[in-house]
Amino acid sequence: MQLQDILFFQGFGTRRVCAGLIQQGLVAVGGEVQTDAGADFDTAGLSFQVQGREWEFHEKAYLMLHKPAGTECSQKPSTYPSIYTLLPAPLRQRPQKGAVQGVQAVGRLDQDTTGLLLLTDDGQFIHRMNSPRHHVPKVYEVTTRHPLDDSQVKRLLEGVVLEDDPKPVRAAACEIAGERQLRLTLTEGKYHQVKRMLAAVSNRVEGLHRSRIGGLVLPADLAPGQWRWLNDADLAALKG
Ligand code: URA
Repeated sequence: MQLQDILFFQGFGTRRVCAGLIQQGLVAVGGEVQTDAGADFDTAGLSFQVQGREWEFHEKAYLMLHKPAGTECSQKPSTYPSIYTLLPAPLRQRPQKGAVQGVQAVGRLDQDTTGLLLLTDDGQFIHRMNSPRHHVPKVYEVTTRHPLDDSQVKRLLEGVVLEDDPKPVRAAACEIAGERQLRLTLTEGKYHQVKRMLAAVSNRVEGLHRSRIGGLVLPADLAPGQWRWLNDADLAALKG
């Protein structure tokens, strides 16, 4: 693929901007400055530097973010900064079907929820991960206001009715991890689901952290606010 197209598809701007970056000597491949915008490179495993910053070529972008508290999963946040401000510009500017679209979060976490969030520019992947038919388990570490007991766990496992739907929602798994700590696994993702389920058993969520999606665990060394690419093993773990 031509170098200017490589940069374009990775989100470094219009083809003209990308050609300009190359012609100005701001792009290097393997440490060697490239000034020919039309030079051909094999994209498999390619990494290059743009203005000194290392970038790996990814045909499709799949990444994980450790969402910090006080951020909104919206492109147009109302109160808190958007999670998208935590990502480098190319990830926000990747072209999709001729338009600038960038990566999208796979589902949303509340402003005050922390933990594992996936982002991608693959619409089918988003659909698959969000579809209730696929039952991808999501594990939440919940801190509650009131002490937990076995009867609350039993009710969460049997199913509780939320106000907008007569069909009960149940936890796929639920275990007490401390006096006010619960590990809850859900296979669906209704609005404020964990908070509403805990309210339905007369408790209240004081802290919420997503630690796992499918077989993919949030790595201990990924600090809040940091992101990284998903590798093949991560993607396989998501499929379970
Ligand atoms: N359930 C909630 O209530 N909030 C989240 O952010 C995720 C699941």
